[in-house]
Amino acid sequence: MEDVLAEDEQAFYSKAEQYWKEVPPTVDGMLGGYGSISSIDINGSKKFLQKFLGEGKGKTRPGCALDCGAGIGRITKRLLLPLFRTVDLVDVTQEFLDKARTYLGEEGKRVENYICCGLQDFQPQTGRYDVIWIQWVIGHLTDDHLVEFLRRCRSALRPDGLIVVKDNVAYEGVVPDDVDSSVCRDLGVLRHLVARAGLTVVHEEQQQNFPEEIYQVHTLALR
Ligand SMILES: C[S@@+](CC[C@H](N)C(=O)[O-])C[C@H]1O[C@@H](n2cnc3c(N)ncnc32)[C@H](O)[C@@H]1O
Repeated sequence: MEDVLAEDEQAFYSKAEQYWKEVPPTVDGMLGGYGSISSIDINGSKKFLQKFLGEGKGKTRPGCALDCGAGIGRITKRLLLPLFRTVDLVDVTQEFLDKARTYLGEEGKRVENYICCGLQDFQPQTGRYDVIWIQWVIGHLTDDHLVEFLRRCRSALRPDGLIVVKDNVAYEGVVPDDVDSSVCRDLGVLRHLVARAGLTVVHEEQQQNFPEEIYQVHTLALR
């Protein structure tokens, strides 16, 4: 039984890797054909993050950010590099990280590390990051791997650092997607996994002004 589950898990990850290898390294590719919503997404994220950044007690510093499941660096380019001194990118698809090196342009010089690794295996450096941004990728991790990854992220935060998860949420339960080999969890399931990782949701918002036909997108700030 355990062997069968291990095989299923392997297939879940390798199918996703194959899927992303076929996707063009463009903003449209990152957003499944919804490239036109990128600006609304980034502006919503900026407003969300700015609530936490600044000087003074409890405020998150603008030092180093980590973009998880970064793809070509869509979020790094327009959200993280403008707000943080340095950024690291991690993604399982090497072709996307290769593209990021040109896509990010001159400002990309402030990227310190391009890391090609599945988040299920990724060990972020302890105490390195002010913000860890995890967008549109958690559905590619199994429940246990997501919990373990969030725990490692917690150890990778600097004092007053913040983890942000921004992702699709299902209306009820867990909805599998066989095309890209992922799942979409409802908010209750997601909050439960966050709690299992020893993290607290300190703020939560629904992204507004996205097309009606796509999943609702929620942003959760965790500490
Ligand atoms: C929907 S795209 C989102 C990209 C980026 N976060 C954005 O919003 O523009 C999903 C990204 O997750 C990456 N990915 C898929 N499975 C992954 C895994 N297990 N570990 C790390 N990255 C993964 C893909 O290569 C792809 O770049």
